[in-house]
Amino acid sequence: MADAAAPRRLTRRTFLGWWIAALMTATIVTALPPLLVFLWPASPKGQKKGPLAVTLDTPIDQLSDGQAVKFNAPTSPNSAFIMADGGGDNAAGDLAFGGFVVKNQGKVDVFAINCSHLGCSVAVNVTAKSFDCPCHGSRFHLDGTVLRGPAAAPLSHLTWKQGADPATIQVDGIVLGF
Ligand code: FES
Repeated sequence: MADAAAPRRLTRRTFLGWWIAALMTATIVTALPPLLVFLWPASPKGQKKGPLAVTLDTPIDQLSDGQAVKFNAPTSPNSAFIMADGGGDNAAGDLAFGGFVVKNQGKVDVFAINCSHLGCSVAVNVTAKSFDCPCHGSRFHLDGTVLRGPAAAPLSHLTWKQGADPATIQVDGIVLGF
């Protein structure tokens, strides 16, 4: 009969079991952090989403019908607007570095400056009351819909709200931190 109080001998099988378990644990501990960072990347240092204050050259309450006013993303610190929707080359969540406030048939809209064809900056055609792209000739109505291709999708909206005064709006964006 075996002595229960006697120390158990470390067999070769037990040693190999512990050794493999330790090896697997070390492998998992080493591989897990990069995998987690890949799956859930942290915001780059210094980046912060939130409303960006923009001062308009023409306050909203002074815009006449059919008038659009251009604005740029703040550069100190460097920031960008976040598109609320999109089609073609634009998509919700894409960044824009400029936009337009436009009053059209009494309604105020705010669009990203990016052409939905390949992303060039559109400009206001004051005479024709349209947004025209200099790159391949696309044109957009003041409500953002396509007037002429090759663009097939409308301009992207920016999410905004009125600021503290008619000359200021708050536009959803991100401080890029560089
Ligand atoms: S990028 Fe505007 S028409 Fe091509």
